[in-house]
Amino acid sequence: MTVRISNTAPMLELFQDAAGLKNAAGNPRNKQIVLRILQETARLIEELDISDDEFWVGVEYINRLGKSNEAGLLAAGLGVEHFLDLLNDAKQAEAGRTGGTPRTIEGPLYVAGAPLSQGYARMDDGAEDDVATPMFVEGQILDLQGQPIAGALVDLWQADSQGNYSHFDKSQSEFNLRRRIVTDAEGRYRARSIVPSGYGCNPQGPTQECLNQLGRHGQRPAHIHFFVSAPGYEHLTTQINLSNDKYLWDDFAYATRDGLIGEVHFIDDQALAAAHEVAGRFAQLSFDFQLRPAANPEAEQRSNRPRAFQEE
Ligand SMILES: [Fe+2]
Repeated sequence: MTVRISNTAPMLELFQDAAGLKNAAGNPRNKQIVLRILQETARLIEELDISDDEFWVGVEYINRLGKSNEAGLLAAGLGVEHFLDLLNDAKQAEAGRTGGTPRTIEGPLYVAGAPLSQGYARMDDGAEDDVATPMFVEGQILDLQGQPIAGALVDLWQADSQGNYSHFDKSQSEFNLRRRIVTDAEGRYRARSIVPSGYGCNPQGPTQECLNQLGRHGQRPAHIHFFVSAPGYEHLTTQINLSNDKYLWDDFAYATRDGLIGEVHFIDDQALAAAHEVAGRFAQLSFDFQLRPAANPEAEQRSNRPRAFQEE
């Protein structure tokens, strides 16, 4: 039989004291959250009969997770980041706010301050000219009526052909494959990039270690991340997941959603290649985004999640 003490008065008093509820200093909201975490942790230990050894292995795991900066990755891999998307969708639907391109997870690899350009940008630095397939990405930013939004900001980032992101992969140049593009009068953005590779968690890292315990892989399909914003419209955090990837519907981070599949077309035509100023095979991807009107000025901004930042 499960021994329970977490619901007794002395334990509640201990946790209330630990959460600072007996003093007037500190932050009331965080006190409330910490109290709940303590209570839920105690209940979980009781109900699953967590041994002392299991508890301390868990504590040591959290230390390693933090040391490797993988807490954000684990949040995605355990579906919590996707849960937040679905919860936000449900709240919006409750308020009658539907339509537009679906949101999906940001992931932990955005870097603020990427180079800004008007209408068009080349995203890659050419370092992979010999190994990567050039890819031309273009589309329109539209409102819910299908009207173009001029002056929208398309902030996009992607991995290289090895599945690595600049800033985190120090072998890449600054802001490689990260750009901010302002849409033209037709709401259009265009980019020359390379076909990104999907990627997996570091096989030696704590996220994959956890996934191994769950019998799961840590792979993602190839994708391109987007923030799309414009004055008067709801900020959109999303991704295009590339149609030709075997992990498209088996994404360890649960980011693939209906309405977010990008059809990649590979073109082997010397004349067309020359017209695009590339040497051989290249890819084309067209993707439009539809933005919802913003309910309030805060909705126009991206979340205040802590992020990496580099000076321009
Ligand atoms: Fe990513």
